[in-house]
Amino acid sequence: MNAHAPTQTAAPLTARRNGALEGHARVPGDKSISIRALILGALTVGETRIGGLLEGEDVLNTAATLRALGGRLERLGGGAWRVHGVGVGGFVEPAGPLDFGNSGTGCRLMLGAVAGCPITATFDGDASLRSRPMNRILDPVVRMGARAVSAAAGGRLPLTLAGARDPIPIVYRTPVPSAQIKSAVLLAGLAAPGETVVIESEASRDHTEKMLAHFGADVRVEAAGEHGRRITLAGQPELEPAPITVPADPSSAAFPLVAALIVPGSEVVLDGVMMNPLRTGLLTTLAEMGAAIERLNVRREGGEEVADLLVRGAEKLRGVEVPAERAPSMIDEYPVLAVAASFAEGETIMRGLKELRVKESDRLTATLALLRGNGVAADIDGDDLLVRGRGRAGGGGRVTTHMDHRIAMAALVMGLASEQPVAIDDGAFIATSFPGFVELMRGLGADLA
Ligand code: S3P
Repeated sequence: MNAHAPTQTAAPLTARRNGALEGHARVPGDKSISIRALILGALTVGETRIGGLLEGEDVLNTAATLRALGGRLERLGGGAWRVHGVGVGGFVEPAGPLDFGNSGTGCRLMLGAVAGCPITATFDGDASLRSRPMNRILDPVVRMGARAVSAAAGGRLPLTLAGARDPIPIVYRTPVPSAQIKSAVLLAGLAAPGETVVIESEASRDHTEKMLAHFGADVRVEAAGEHGRRITLAGQPELEPAPITVPADPSSAAFPLVAALIVPGSEVVLDGVMMNPLRTGLLTTLAEMGAAIERLNVRREGGEEVADLLVRGAEKLRGVEVPAERAPSMIDEYPVLAVAASFAEGETIMRGLKELRVKESDRLTATLALLRGNGVAADIDGDDLLVRGRGRAGGGGRVTTHMDHRIAMAALVMGLASEQPVAIDDGAFIATSFPGFVELMRGLGADLA
């Protein structure tokens, strides 16, 4: 039924050393913000204009599900979109299953949005998404009055959810720091009377709460504990359309950025990258490793701070310890950080990576295999990843990507600096988050074929 894997033909790719990377590039729009812009736009009454939308498969699949639920979404071209919303609680029952493809964020946020509507919908996705836990969303939305009519073992997809006729506002403490769980509860809470509260012990990306406020909802954010937050949403707002400009995705920028750092002599500028502090853990870590990354032309775009990042090939990187509490601010960046750590001198310890096991693949295991398969000494100890950097990597491996775009891109980045080329079994999933990755990297001088 879905157009992704196993029917899709695999697209093997190989990355080889080819001298310094040079030039300017702009990576596509932020995936988290793009998905939220479509969903929240569809919950307003009226027309929302979006600029710079990421037109990757995860976002396009989410757009298709919103159409199936009654939203009118139009692509105007070049990342410009127009969304006519149905209003909070206004989704109509879809005629068939909602196919989210590879997108955990699209699926989990929409489980929340549908949970607050009196409709029944079936959620499905590709083999990767079918393997990912959904109980983390079902638990809170069932407390709010939704019901799982049917689900695969462990609450997995395909899953049929009956939304609540009269949603109940709750106070919810997220069991793990996860913006997806937080966002699903807030989206379900939109349709509930009274205040829905989410408490997180470590602050996760705050795009949902910022965008809710942008659309006129009453959202209060307070500190909770040393690193946490308490978010309070007043239910049943009338969300008002407001234009959205999507900044460049720091999680996509991470790949050309690390590539430029580990390929000697490189000098690359990445334009307009979002610098939201809940997304910049990689930059903090690379700075500690000795990388000089300059933030130029710092400005605000679409409610976020953005900067042009100037990256030069680092003379020397050193191993560091990355604390567990930094994980939420760089959760998607560990595979490529592990590649950077391979080219550093000394041991890098990345602590508290349990959540990596439930990403598009078991990313902790997949990252370890990527490293070891290319001659880098590494280990998993509990939830920690240890990389013994020697300033170089042998390469020569063929990396299994497990339908995981970030494993695919991290492996290719390694191949641009390792002694032997690095091959991947399948680059098709790169298009979920970073369409044009290969072309962009080639434009900087990379040998990818
Ligand atoms: C995302 C949150 C993160 C991240 C994912 C995008 C989001 O997942 O890994 O790529 O947009 O909310 P968790 O919230 O489950 O950590």
